Amino acid sequence: MPSFAKPTILMCPPDFYGIEYEINPWMSRSRKSDDALARAQWHGLHALLAQLGTDIRLMTPVPRLPDLVFTANAALVWRDVAFVARFRHSARQPETPVDEAWFHSVGFETRLCPEGWDFEGAGDALFCGETLYGGYLIRSDAGALQWLGAQIGCRAIPLQLVDDRYYHLDTCFCPLSATEAIYYPPAFDDYARQALVDSVPTLVAVDAAEAARFACNAVVVGRDVVLNTGCPQLANALADLGYRAHSTDLGEFIKAGGSAKCLTLRLDGEEAADWP
Ligand code: ARG
Repeated sequence: MPSFAKPTILMCPPDFYGIEYEINPWMSRSRKSDDALARAQWHGLHALLAQLGTDIRLMTPVPRLPDLVFTANAALVWRDVAFVARFRHSARQPETPVDEAWFHSVGFETRLCPEGWDFEGAGDALFCGETLYGGYLIRSDAGALQWLGAQIGCRAIPLQLVDDRYYHLDTCFCPLSATEAIYYPPAFDDYARQALVDSVPTLVAVDAAEAARFACNAVVVGRDVVLNTGCPQLANALADLGYRAHSTDLGEFIKAGGSAKCLTLRLDGEEAADWP
């Protein structure tokens, strides 16, 4: 069973990162990423997280798996279990055995949801308190999220995502603590929006412009929140709640539809999680 002395984050260097296919509206093969700049931005994020006192573990990059950098999708981590992803798009399906092997190598038990359901890891499953919130429809299936809730023995609230640009839950929802979260309301159907309002005591809404800067795709480390540049209103709202916002340019990864949170996976449990 893995044990962690400090906040521990999984990342994967962008050696083979690029825009090789189009599986979300941000991706266009005609808008390639700049390799050197992507590397510099990834190292900037890594350095900032290290400076905030996290321990960063690295997954070895694999040729022809450009999206392996988005380790948030590798699995949902709960205690010593990694619920490994089953990807919706064939381009990302070869990532699953790579993720499984990595989790085994560090002592996690791995579990896959039943065949026939898709589930894209912490990209679509986030704890806020004892509740597991799950984004579904675009990438993950509601059935897989209910299955996870039963496996873990917690309340699972599936949230329907309705805007293709916010295709993973972590692009439009970010728990800060057991009682506080950031969200982009138009990304959810009415029922999901109401479920969030009813169950999370403090919700900070971001506007359309900052949502498109991936404001919700933030990494929370204690009272520090790391996110892409260009989100000044959210930074102010975070300061009012007693958090420090740190911005770092991740523009090359937004070309693939990802930002700070997508590039990380917390291995010792998110700050906001009260695991049952
Ligand atoms: N290009 C990747 C995809 O479309 C980006 C994944 C971003 N990850 C995330 N957790 N939102 O699957």
